[in-house]
Amino acid sequence: MKKFYSIAIDGPAASGKSTAAKGVAKRLHFLYIDTGAMYRAFTYHMLENNLEPKSEEDAKTLLPSLSLKEDKEGHIYLNGKDVSSEVRSLEVTNNVSYACAHLSVREKLVALQQEMAKSENVVMDGRDIGTVVLPEADLKIYQIASVDARAKRRCDEFVSQGLKVTYEEIKQDLIRRDYIDSHREHSPLKPAADAIVLDTSFMSIEEEIEAIIKLFYKKVGDLWNNTEK
Ligand code: CDP
Repeated sequence: MKKFYSIAIDGPAASGKSTAAKGVAKRLHFLYIDTGAMYRAFTYHMLENNLEPKSEEDAKTLLPSLSLKEDKEGHIYLNGKDVSSEVRSLEVTNNVSYACAHLSVREKLVALQQEMAKSENVVMDGRDIGTVVLPEADLKIYQIASVDARAKRRCDEFVSQGLKVTYEEIKQDLIRRDYIDSHREHSPLKPAADAIVLDTSFMSIEEEIEAIIKLFYKKVGDLWNNTEK
C-alpha cells in the first residue's frame, strides 16, 4: 500500500501556522488543510442560524447535515457555499473557541479531517493535529511566538485588509482564545509529546518554511527520497 505523508502543525492563535503550512505544502506538493477554517465555518453556520455557540444542544442540530470542503486554493465551502471571507469576521473569531469546544463538534470535524488525510500527502494545521487528529504524523511541529509578535502579525494582516482594529484589541483576543483553547476539556491546545517546538518570534515566513522542510527531510530521510511522487 502506498504511504501518504503528513505534517502536523499546531500552536496558539496567529502564530503564523497557516502561512507557514501553506508554504510548506506548496514546496512539497502536499495538500494543505486548514482545520481552523473548518471550525470557523461551523461557527459561522451556527451564527447565521441564530444559534448560541456556547450551547452543545444548538450545535448538535446542525451536525447531521453538515458538509465542509476545502479546495486546493484554500477556499472553504460550507454546505456547498464558499464562505472563505465570512469565516474571518470578528463575530466568528469572537465565538469560534466556544463552538469548537463541544465534544460532538470535535468528533464530527476530526473524522472529516482524518478522512481528508487518508489518500493524500498533507500539511494540516490547528490545535490538536499532532495529539488527536494525526497522532501518527511523520513530523509534528508546535509553533510558538511571543504574544506581542503574534498580535503585531495579526494587526498588520487586518490593516492590510482595510479593517479598523487596534493592536491592544487584537492582543486581548489572542490571550482570551489561547486561554479557552488550552483549558477546554476536549482536545486542549498543547504540544504532542513528540512535537518539535519552533519559536518563530524572530523568524521570517521564508525561514519558517525552510526550517520545517529541513526537519521533514531529516525525519523521513531516505524513506521520502525513495517514494514514488
Ligand atoms: O488563525 P488563528 O490562529 O486565529 O485561528 P484558526 O487556526 O483559524 O482557529 C480558530 C479557532 O478554531 C481557534 O482559536 C480554536 O478555538 C479553534 N480550533 C480548534 O479548536 N482546533 C483546531 N484543530 C483548529 C482550530
